[in-house]
Amino acid sequence: MNSGKQIPQEKGLDHSMALLKEGYRFVPNRLQQYRSRIFQTRMMAGKKVICISGKEATELFYDKECFKREGAAPKRIKESLFGVGGVQGMDGDAHQHRKHLFMSLMTRDSLKEIATICREKWQQSATEWVTKDNIELFPEAEKIMCRTACEWVGVPLWAKDLSIRTQDLSDMIDAFGASGPRHWKGRVARNRAEKWIEDIVERVRNGELRIEEAKPLYIVSWHKDLDGNLLDTHTAAVEILNLLRPIVAIARFVTFGALAIHDFPKTKAKMADNKGDYVKWFVQEVRRYYPFAPFTGALTAKAFDWQGYHFKKDTLVILDIYGTNHSPELWSEPNRFKPERFEDWEGSPFDFIPQGGGEYDKGHRCAGEWLTIELMQTSLAFLTQDIAYGVPAQDLSYSMRRIPTHPKSNFVMENIRFK
Ligand code: HEM
Repeated sequence: MNSGKQIPQEKGLDHSMALLKEGYRFVPNRLQQYRSRIFQTRMMAGKKVICISGKEATELFYDKECFKREGAAPKRIKESLFGVGGVQGMDGDAHQHRKHLFMSLMTRDSLKEIATICREKWQQSATEWVTKDNIELFPEAEKIMCRTACEWVGVPLWAKDLSIRTQDLSDMIDAFGASGPRHWKGRVARNRAEKWIEDIVERVRNGELRIEEAKPLYIVSWHKDLDGNLLDTHTAAVEILNLLRPIVAIARFVTFGALAIHDFPKTKAKMADNKGDYVKWFVQEVRRYYPFAPFTGALTAKAFDWQGYHFKKDTLVILDIYGTNHSPELWSEPNRFKPERFEDWEGSPFDFIPQGGGEYDKGHRCAGEWLTIELMQTSLAFLTQDIAYGVPAQDLSYSMRRIPTHPKSNFVMENIRFK
């Protein structure tokens, strides 16, 4: 039953091309045009899509009665970024059980362990960098994160394979907002990475690869679903890649952090001093300010009314992550980089959503958010407290049309030395 208010509708048969062209600004542009927190468009061969933005929209989006994830992600995203059979597309008890597997890995001790591993990798890499004229931070940080992720998870990684494994994990991330060659690269990368990890899971299960029981690789390999069955090898590999891939993605935030230190030079000394909890505030502001995940999507699980608007069952709804993190209703001077805003931030799960919102255990909020914050703090503290470097002239701009984006020059650093 339609309760009345008309959702502003974008005219035309399909706007997928506009999304590719406008990138992070696609949703915010239209919200501004319609002066609304909601509008309807058509994408993916003319399918109706409702876009919503803001705190109340986030509260709605994470209401499990109203939304489901099965069937929500487009095939092309599953073929590259997510994989098939992973936690992202699950609902109800089965989702909660699988999500518990991820959250059980995020203990205080485990986060401390990965931070120690990560710091060690920065130290080792910097020892090489001091012998070079310059390096590109983004690909170097990706390699550091790949080595960190494999060691923490328990996946053996030979030095000769570091480049290809890092590249594959990176290509899956890079495929997110892409069509054409970038999407295909992501698919090839996923196929190769799934084979790599499936083989490792089989070796864990048949005893060929001995691994500590506390390691995520062991825990996922022997995890049982609600019916008491082990995950099939492919699904286990998809979930292990759901740990490795996003840890490599943290390199993007670290690169943006380095850019922030360069663009807002007053932050550099504050990072080095870390008075109050400055490094943490800085990390939070990097996650809020810079573009990474533009939005996330779910299907309506039933028909319902919200704020006078009617939602039909099985409609794709997109939550505007980038726009919510830049909403003037939620953030003062949203387009200013201001880490101190987090000094007295009260911490609502619905207004600061760089990695999704709502609950961790019962909802779809990012399982790796604490880990991301931990490794960003470790990495950016290392860059400001342990080494000094110069930043030569280069193209540090980043495209707002490309999803995901990063500084065009990859952030070149020169004359690197230990402090
Ligand atoms: C690099 C920074 C990261 C960003 C920007 C990010 C972003 C996100 C977003 C937007 C979601 C979807 C939320 C939703 O649909 O409601 C998500 C889900 C998820 N993330 Fe992250 N993430 C990051 C790092 C990580 C890390 C380091 C891990 C694991 C080690 C991780 C594991 C996951 C998993 C397993 C899910 C699915 C949760 C579920 O469906 O219940 N992410 N992330």
